[in-house]
Amino acid sequence: MKRTFFKIYYGPAFQSAQLERRKLTIPPALHALNGRSVLFMTDIHMSAMFPDDAVRRLIGQAAALEPDIVCYGGDFAETEEDQERLMPLLARLRARIGSFAVLGNNDFEHLYHSSRGLVNELNRIGIVALVDTEARLDLPGGARLRVAGLNALPEGTRPPAPFFSGEDSRDFRILMAHYPKSFMLHAGNCASLPHLALAGHNHGGQFRFLGLTPFNIGFEKNKTSRALPVAGWTDVPGFPLLISPGVGTSRLPFRLNVPPTIHLITLECSEQTA
Ligand SMILES: [Fe+2]
Repeated sequence: MKRTFFKIYYGPAFQSAQLERRKLTIPPALHALNGRSVLFMTDIHMSAMFPDDAVRRLIGQAAALEPDIVCYGGDFAETEEDQERLMPLLARLRARIGSFAVLGNNDFEHLYHSSRGLVNELNRIGIVALVDTEARLDLPGGARLRVAGLNALPEGTRPPAPFFSGEDSRDFRILMAHYPKSFMLHAGNCASLPHLALAGHNHGGQFRFLGLTPFNIGFEKNKTSRALPVAGWTDVPGFPLLISPGVGTSRLPFRLNVPPTIHLITLECSEQTA
């Protein structure tokens, strides 16, 4: 049955994530990136309720897409042991160009004393962890990749210096944050607007019934922006922003009518679009 009234997604039964494919138009000056892909995965929340086998299947599914760039939106694991089990699995997902991550509130709250350890572990397996920092990577064909990551907390201090300074038409700019609201608060700290922004945190509400989620009844009122959708694409901040429903769960170990979702965004140079 294609549609059911209730569809419950439970970690140990996880077989594969829903894959959302999207084309993103980029300026002609970025023709060197035409056809390249960005995989976005967020809120894995590895735990006993989302165990090794399930995460292995998730990583295998993502790796089969052979992405050029991989971005993680934070909330990796529930405990330090879960984090230790997750790292070798994440290391299997290779990107042709590079992998980048921001940390989530879960990473700071539950792993508060080891969030520095998480940054080190991510870097060790080749994922550049961005906490109010920016990474730059020269690419073949004269293009340059710039990826910046905002702090996990929407009220967090402003990044020390504006991201994406020294505008260059050959730069492809990605801005990441765990909280969607961060873009409403701190996007002004970008000297140049991003071509793509990525966020997680909301889990698409995690529970959706008759189109309503806990956010509709005031859940995390102070941490969300009413101007932004709970999940999906929006141009509200002034640039394309994807708010992903993510993969895992927090608080209650299941999802209702919100499938685990990963995203493959293919860059399409505007010169070559009809
Ligand atoms: Fe989360």
